Amino acid sequence: MTLSKSPKSSPHLKVLIRRTAIQKRVRQVAQQITHDFKGQRVHLVGVLKGACIFLSDLAREINLETSLDFIAVSSYGARKESSGQVRVNKDLDSSIAGLNVILVEDILDTGLTVSYLRRILLQRRPKTLKVAALLDKPSRRIIKEIQADYAGFSIPDKFVVGYGLDFAEKYRNLKDVCVLSDPEITATPSEPASKSSRSKL
Ligand code: IMP
Repeated sequence: MTLSKSPKSSPHLKVLIRRTAIQKRVRQVAQQITHDFKGQRVHLVGVLKGACIFLSDLAREINLETSLDFIAVSSYGARKESSGQVRVNKDLDSSIAGLNVILVEDILDTGLTVSYLRRILLQRRPKTLKVAALLDKPSRRIIKEIQADYAGFSIPDKFVVGYGLDFAEKYRNLKDVCVLSDPEITATPSEPASKSSRSKL
């Protein structure tokens, strides 16, 4: 993938995936979901806040009866990156028992968040549970068996923002997915500031 300058021309942002490519891919993912669940209802569960824009676009491209809910989580522990400890900050509003649930994430990184969410959601007896992630960083995976059933783009190990993804709550509203090369991020190579300063709620 080649990087080009961000339209917002910040020296720290380089476009990785353009909005037109995102739109096209989101439509393809939605078509696949529509095909896989033909004649059935799907229940999209978005992981706040990062997945909200992906979920909004995805939901509007799915040609099935579709309902939505949201869950918010944060990591905790001394080393957030690998603690594997996830806390639910906002739970679902309604039961998912018997539903075709699609957990919608912005990005699969270590896989710890999705691994935890899968575990707690499966206890609530959905009919099916699938994972849709706009982005996937396979080289960062700690929980190897975690994979997206519906994946948008596989990307290299770069810190990205935009289309819902943030750094310290900034950049979520960028239309393109951009690589952020910020001195804030690169300052602490052993434990990226991006992780510890990131807030998921
Ligand atoms: P995991 O539990 O390590 O898979 O982390 C998933 C979460 O980490 C995502 O939902 C994002 O909130 C966050 N994350 C991982 N990589 C990035 C990134 O490159 N930019 C912004 N957030 C990220």
